[in-house]
Amino acid sequence: MTTTHTQDPVLHLEQVSRVHGQGAAEVHALREVDLRVHPGELVAVMGPSGSGKSTLLTLAGGLDAPSSGRVLVEGTVLGELSRKKLAAVRRRSVGYVFQDYNLIPALTAAENIALPRELDGVSARAARREALAALDELGIADLADRFPDDMSGGQQQRVAIARALIGERRLVLADEPTGALDSTTGETVLAVLRARCDAGAAAMMVTHEPRHAAWADRVVFLRDGRLVDETANTDAASLLVAAATNSAKGGEK
Ligand SMILES: Nc1ncnc2c1ncn2[C@@H]1O[C@H](COP(=O)(O)OP(=O)(O)OP(=O)(O)O)[C@@H](O)[C@H]1O
Ligand SMILES: [Mg+2]
Repeated sequence: MTTTHTQDPVLHLEQVSRVHGQGAAEVHALREVDLRVHPGELVAVMGPSGSGKSTLLTLAGGLDAPSSGRVLVEGTVLGELSRKKLAAVRRRSVGYVFQDYNLIPALTAAENIALPRELDGVSARAARREALAALDELGIADLADRFPDDMSGGQQQRVAIARALIGERRLVLADEPTGALDSTTGETVLAVLRARCDAGAAAMMVTHEPRHAAWADRVVFLRDGRLVDETANTDAASLLVAAATNSAKGGEK
């Protein structure tokens, strides 16, 4: 199926490769990946452990630079920005949910979420209000003043998601955002992500769960750093078959 997009992609990867190490220790984490994610689109990324999913997200979010190829966010080539400008794009345009949450231990949930907004010049009061609204959306309003160490993994994960959604993030990148969540909470998080995309954001999420990928418009599969397949999510049954085949070929998670 071909979809015609009238708008420019929010995220555009052009022949992106990432090589770690040198010589015999060389690892091709990503090989010549071409990918566009448009406004309104939620793309699921699947593939076995080590296939390059997290690498794909870190490059898309400007947290790492490709060895070759270009990454464009809203038409801007990330590799051509100064460090300062890149930091501003990461803070303003991109929301990132890390595989291991990355919350700041010395800050409460609300402070963690409000931080990127305050860094952007929003008043502390307004930023806290936004943070509380984001916590509420994810069903954890009661955790606002709790520190990360006093929360369960699933609670920390939802705080990390709230932090990625605050402000006007046009691109949301989430690395296994439902990994530590029970199925009901996982569905809540996906519904929130889906709503963001329906409101015009673009999102890319790594998942091992075909059930969660079913929320996406499109599923891309990685194997050994290569984008091997793309499934338009028009037929949930074919998606489930594709995902099952994919994990049977070597996925261990
Ligand atoms: N900093 C690094 N230095 C060397 N090799 C790395 C580095 N980061 C990733 N790699 C390698 O690149 C490959 C892709 O790693 P990546 O973390 O993207 O996989 P993944 O698909 O996210 O796996 P998982 O499902 O386990 O999270 C792996 O072989 C990994 O060992
Ligand atoms: Mg990973």
